[in-house]
Amino acid sequence: MSASTVYPSKAEIIQHSFLDEQKYQDLYRQSITEPEKFWAEHAQRLDWFKPFSKVKDTSFHAPDVHIRWFEDGYLNVSHNCLDRHLEHRGDQTAIIWQGDDPSEHKHISYRELHTAVCRFANVLKAQGVAKGDVVTLYMPMIPETAVAMLACTRIGAVHSVVFGGFSPEALASRILNGRSKLVITADEGLRGGKTIPLKANVDAALTRSDLDMVEKVIVVKRTGVDVGWREGRDICYQEAMAQASDDCPAEVMNAEDPLFILYTSGSTGAPKGVLHTTGGYLTYVSLSHQYVFNYREGDVFWCTADFGWITGHSYVLYGPLSNGATTLVYEGVPNYPDLSRFWRIVEQHKVNLFYTAPTAIRAIMAAGDELAQAADSSSLRVMGSCGEPINPEAWEWFYRVVGDSRCPIMDTWWQTETGGIMITPIAGVNDLKPGSATRPFFGVQPALVDNEGNEISGAGEGNLIIKDSWPAQMRTVYGDHDRFVKTYFSTFTGAYFTGDGARRDEDGYYWITGRVDDVINVSGHRMGTAEVESALVSHPKVAEAAVVGYPHAIKGQGIYVYITLNVSEAPTDALKEELRQWVRKEIGPVASPDVIQWAPGLPKTRSGKIMRRILRKIAADEHDNLGDVSTLADPSVVDELIANRVGAP
Ligand code: WTA
Repeated sequence: MSASTVYPSKAEIIQHSFLDEQKYQDLYRQSITEPEKFWAEHAQRLDWFKPFSKVKDTSFHAPDVHIRWFEDGYLNVSHNCLDRHLEHRGDQTAIIWQGDDPSEHKHISYRELHTAVCRFANVLKAQGVAKGDVVTLYMPMIPETAVAMLACTRIGAVHSVVFGGFSPEALASRILNGRSKLVITADEGLRGGKTIPLKANVDAALTRSDLDMVEKVIVVKRTGVDVGWREGRDICYQEAMAQASDDCPAEVMNAEDPLFILYTSGSTGAPKGVLHTTGGYLTYVSLSHQYVFNYREGDVFWCTADFGWITGHSYVLYGPLSNGATTLVYEGVPNYPDLSRFWRIVEQHKVNLFYTAPTAIRAIMAAGDELAQAADSSSLRVMGSCGEPINPEAWEWFYRVVGDSRCPIMDTWWQTETGGIMITPIAGVNDLKPGSATRPFFGVQPALVDNEGNEISGAGEGNLIIKDSWPAQMRTVYGDHDRFVKTYFSTFTGAYFTGDGARRDEDGYYWITGRVDDVINVSGHRMGTAEVESALVSHPKVAEAAVVGYPHAIKGQGIYVYITLNVSEAPTDALKEELRQWVRKEIGPVASPDVIQWAPGLPKTRSGKIMRRILRKIAADEHDNLGDVSTLADPSVVDELIANRVGAP
């Protein structure tokens, strides 16, 4: 097999594990051969108001794709994350909140969180929010965001969290798609000592005339700055909470009732509203949180993701709280006040399980070992990585310097669409190989296929598909089931297509090789190249734009843009800057181009299709190896682009 080093778990981790290799094998086999039995049993980790009698009714065959789990069972997510813990761990800390400012932190017990959630659920009800309504959140990493999400689940409202780094335009389109009558935000966010004008962005979004369905905006006072106020529309969170009753019974929800919408990028069109439902999602994130990280009663779990992404939903909030864990919510960034921040937080709050993203590890690694060793991270037991491929060098550094060659690293592969972790090591069970997400979690049947859909057996490389449903799978694209079927179930018959490529080695370990579609992954943020292109061509001076990813030492991928200007426009550096600002305004800072190259022409096939494969090669400085160029309409265009390639920063 490959020359990669193998890292077995240390005895102390193995001792702690719930499983050993044999138990994993047995349970995995059962989860595939008898999924109904397996999931019926494991769903018992939740409290059900009314038990289910049916476990699984799913089909991956277009056009009748449907996914239903536990469909006649009833439960409530906030009840499972809060109420049922009150008797035994009401006074235990549910959330440790660490502010951006190192001196600011607080502990919120399960009882306090329960009270706040009940109050806020009543606030929502008083504003006319009912079961099934979509509520949009545009919030910083503060406890009130967790309160708002849980309050939605308490009354059966469907939350749609929009990442606070998105622009007013991007926020507006998501509010419109969900037809939200209510938006929850904060006066400002605080990250790395800088403020983010969340309320002002909401106001800007709501100037759009097609957003007049928004009746109310609830504003959490975070920094206390003066913000614009529309009487009759805007409501102060703190004032409303002070007046609300803390008695709010949890709504009895069907297992297949919608839980949340979360927008994510694909290779074409506007971001899709990924819809997750109640029973299957919670069962799966709860089980995976416990097994993958070997979560034990009393552990402090810290996942550094933002609530605005799926990782923030599943492994900051729902997984940990359903298991009665103490979850750490961090408001800030890894490099403020300096790059030792993560380890100082680990030391201060005695974090046991730590889950972060490769881009953060690479940024911290670049600053040297000293900062990582400046704080005591001996409380750590298991670590995790997610969101993009982790390069072996970063893996080894994380393992050796942060984890003291003691803590195993769970390299977890999954997606917004999958709801929970899909391919992953299990702490203390399998040996690790840096850069490999290793093996499937329970109930997950990955396979590799060639471009014609033929399954590859044994060791090999191909497109990564999943052959059958698992409980946390997305159910549909909100409001567009056809798009769901087309996007995920039409490329390969009868299977869920992930959009990723992967290699499987002789030990059956999976190595994710990255997206095989036109999606790029910048610092763990998933972005459709088409989205960035459409933002660029909406600029009046731009005739055409092509966007590709290129290898970037810290971000994983950077954004490389080729622009053809209108004939009358002069290519200047000032215009490059203007275009960067334009993209920030249209989408948000996460989509800001790293490199812009003026392209008098773009490589196209004779039928006019842009040949991105060639543009990717040029961006990566691999133009010696362009592949087949015989279908190019005008080969001279390529020579021109190579000659004027812009060195990547
Ligand atoms: C990529 C994030 C390699 C992959 C949870 C996937 C990964 C996309 C890994 C989903 C990993 C995620 N190794 N690649 N461990 N985890 N990816 O929807 O390309 O934001 O399709 O979900 O990130 O990104 P998303």
